[in-house]
Amino acid sequence: MLTNKPKTKILVDGGDPEETRRIKNLLGFVDGQTTNPSLIAKNPEIRSLLDSGQVLSAEQEKDEYRKIVRRISPMVGDAGVSIEVFADFTTTAQQMLSQGEEMFSWIPNAYIKYPCTHEGLRAAQMSVQRGIRVNITLCFSQSQAAAVYSATRGSKHPAYVSPFVGRLDDRGEDGMDLVKNIKQMYEPGDGHVYILAASIRNLNHLLYSFALGVELVTVPTKVLEQWAAKNFAMPGSDFSYKPANSSGHALRSIPYQTMDMSHSWESFDISHELTTKGIEQFVADYQSTLRRSA
Ligand code: E4P
Repeated sequence: MLTNKPKTKILVDGGDPEETRRIKNLLGFVDGQTTNPSLIAKNPEIRSLLDSGQVLSAEQEKDEYRKIVRRISPMVGDAGVSIEVFADFTTTAQQMLSQGEEMFSWIPNAYIKYPCTHEGLRAAQMSVQRGIRVNITLCFSQSQAAAVYSATRGSKHPAYVSPFVGRLDDRGEDGMDLVKNIKQMYEPGDGHVYILAASIRNLNHLLYSFALGVELVTVPTKVLEQWAAKNFAMPGSDFSYKPANSSGHALRSIPYQTMDMSHSWESFDISHELTTKGIEQFVADYQSTLRRSA
């Protein structure tokens, strides 16, 4: 059991309530949970429905998603459960918002995940105006994070931005640099956006997130179990992060850019190849569980 709770809130990155329960037993608490279409497609109950030859309609898949988050919701603390809207490249902000409004009513501690795209940010902006808590996902650049800050200004709840560390590492860039840069950029701000370090692949990502003092980190079960095996060691004052990929090759650093977050969110460059790829992958995983039209 973790006795020295870090300042950074710990979320489970997954789609299986049993995993959440296991981690809660291991740590003694879970602050929150993030889900996404890829994680939901891997949920063991959804898998066994599909393996038994059943096919799901979009409505049934939504019902399954709701059941999953309703089981997770009471197990987690005030960092809430992030639920992701379905969005492909034709989904409008209004369509995302309608889904978000419905999903927000599923559980009392929902955060609605919108992709960091033009339509996603418009949906997020309308959501915060309606008091809906948001998590902007698939963030891969500092200018996307600046746009998130600007689009969610005035939110009465903290808005989350999820920089994806592992996916930047995968292509040779130091994903933790992005987290560090966003933190530096947000420092003089009004604090309405919380950084949720995501796509965490190893213990070093987790420890560096603690050392940077980000508000939240979402972590796969496997990495939390590795941390438990090290008796929940925390980074000491001598902790230094060595950016390297899984084969030990050094990662390219991402330089800090000075940005004026008082500008309107539409003025920032929010395009990113990995955001596009991420949406493609989520759509494919979402559709993998659905009945094919003939
Ligand atoms: C969290 O919100 C994300 O969905 C998740 O961390 C993605 O991680 P991955 O890059 O390992 O898929």
